[in-house]
Amino acid sequence: MDKILILDFGSQTTQLIGRRIRELGVYAEIINGDADLGAILGGADAPGTPGGAPPDRLRGIILSGSPESVYRQGAVPDKRIYSAFIDGGGGSGPGGSRRPLPLLGICYGLQRMNWDNGGKVEPLPEREYGRVGVTVEGDTAITKSGTFTAWMSHGDTVTSLAPGFTAPGRSASGFPAVVVHREKPWFGLQFHPEVTHCERGGEILAAFVFTICGCEKNWTMEAYMETVRAGLIQKAGNDPVLLLISGGVDSTVAAALLLKALPPEQVHLMYMDTGLMRKDETIQVKGTLEKLGAKRPRIIMCEDEFLSALKGLTDPEEKRKTIGDLFITIQEREVARLALPGSYFLAQGTLYTDLIESGKGVGKKAHLIKSHHNVGSPLVDAKRREGRIIEPLDRLYKDEVRTLGRLLGVDEEVVRRHPFPGPGLAVRILGEVTREKCAILREADAIFIQELKRRAGSGGGSLYDEIWQAFAVLLPLRSVGVAGDVRKYGWVLALRAITSADGMTADVYPFNPRDLIEISTRITNTVKEIGRVTYDISSKPPATIEWE
Ligand code: XMP
Repeated sequence: MDKILILDFGSQTTQLIGRRIRELGVYAEIINGDADLGAILGGADAPGTPGGAPPDRLRGIILSGSPESVYRQGAVPDKRIYSAFIDGGGGSGPGGSRRPLPLLGICYGLQRMNWDNGGKVEPLPEREYGRVGVTVEGDTAITKSGTFTAWMSHGDTVTSLAPGFTAPGRSASGFPAVVVHREKPWFGLQFHPEVTHCERGGEILAAFVFTICGCEKNWTMEAYMETVRAGLIQKAGNDPVLLLISGGVDSTVAAALLLKALPPEQVHLMYMDTGLMRKDETIQVKGTLEKLGAKRPRIIMCEDEFLSALKGLTDPEEKRKTIGDLFITIQEREVARLALPGSYFLAQGTLYTDLIESGKGVGKKAHLIKSHHNVGSPLVDAKRREGRIIEPLDRLYKDEVRTLGRLLGVDEEVVRRHPFPGPGLAVRILGEVTREKCAILREADAIFIQELKRRAGSGGGSLYDEIWQAFAVLLPLRSVGVAGDVRKYGWVLALRAITSADGMTADVYPFNPRDLIEISTRITNTVKEIGRVTYDISSKPPATIEWE
């Protein structure tokens, strides 16, 4: 398979680069920016050496952005990338039919490439941030001439180009924005083509991947499924595999994959009903798993344990920690009850973005921006140390998981399902969580979601399908209202609906006001305890998606 390698220097958008490349139908893999590339480059460190093993279908390298500066202690890539070759493509490299390895530097990646090859990089008098105009004079191999709006975020700039480079594109302030090597297939961008609101971003990445690197479109979910299936059979052998199911898309697709690859007796599925789930969630989960052929779904009812642990707690961090700790305690207790042999594997539906968000990502320099994602527990850590963890989705983005789920026959209802946080309704009931509040929120949330599913969106599908995540939040305050002739105090409910690519940034869904008004009326008419409904119109950043 053709592969684009992305060297991660710690930018928050590195994973978006990978995603965009895969959307083009080409496999992209992200590794640490300073990784030793000896094996990957296949001995290509001897430039033009006849007989030097060609890299294994590596077609090009992208150097990501970084919060660091090249003149301080920014991570340095394996310098062999600058003298490596790939096969074919009719390039003009000294290796005959071999040609220099195509490189694309993005932001810090461009500065790095320039610095490493003898150019200069210095701090900008003022950061260039957000939408910035870029003008390219003369067509280049990755973008045509003209002016477009790019997306930038940098405090350093190239002040002197390394020998061999030109800068046909400049930012509105005159700094190099598109840099091209005169002979080698090396390009640099001072902006982020991977960000959706960067005009021409997709076109530039496609030109690099197809025209410059000569990649074929051979990354498909069918191919991935077969590779992972074979890998699972080989890795698990005859040992039992235990998967903890949350009810969401990821763990369900992971379960479907396990059940497709291994005999059902070998697959142990465990699900905890914490009492903090959505309406009818447990019944649905059970049905889904059985439909996928699960023989041993173990449903643990632990609502009482969670609600008593949460009693009196109002601090969001304390609530989260209590839930996390109890989750681990019950998990350990229940796993012990299964009495599996020590050689069992623990499977998880971890996604690529979960790893990034928890700072455990590919790229040890990925800055920690979240600590609350559920990718670790003593059990997971122990199994990881033993090399007995199976994470069959850890290279996939959410939309890829959905595609894979459909291929595996997971119900559309589950595949389309919006994400739901591990701590469940507890982070959507602000302040103290009680059984009554859970019941109120569950009802209101179910009505909201049901309405979104039955109302048409602007693009032909339902509103639910146009929205990336929607839910209701119960606020810790009551507000006055009238019921008949009496004044009555009811709870205030906030509705949240956002569009997003991956939850890392989010925009407010722009409802037709009529939809919101009708949904609000239905909620207040049906759930008597709720007296008032509001709509949250905050984007992320600065707000987060959840309220706690
Ligand atoms: P925030 O609120 O951080 O949420 O903008 C981003 C995405 O992550 C989900 N989320 C969580 N998922 N455990 C999870 O498994 C959590 O503690 C958690 N907190 C937030 C959130 O629903 C959104 O999709």
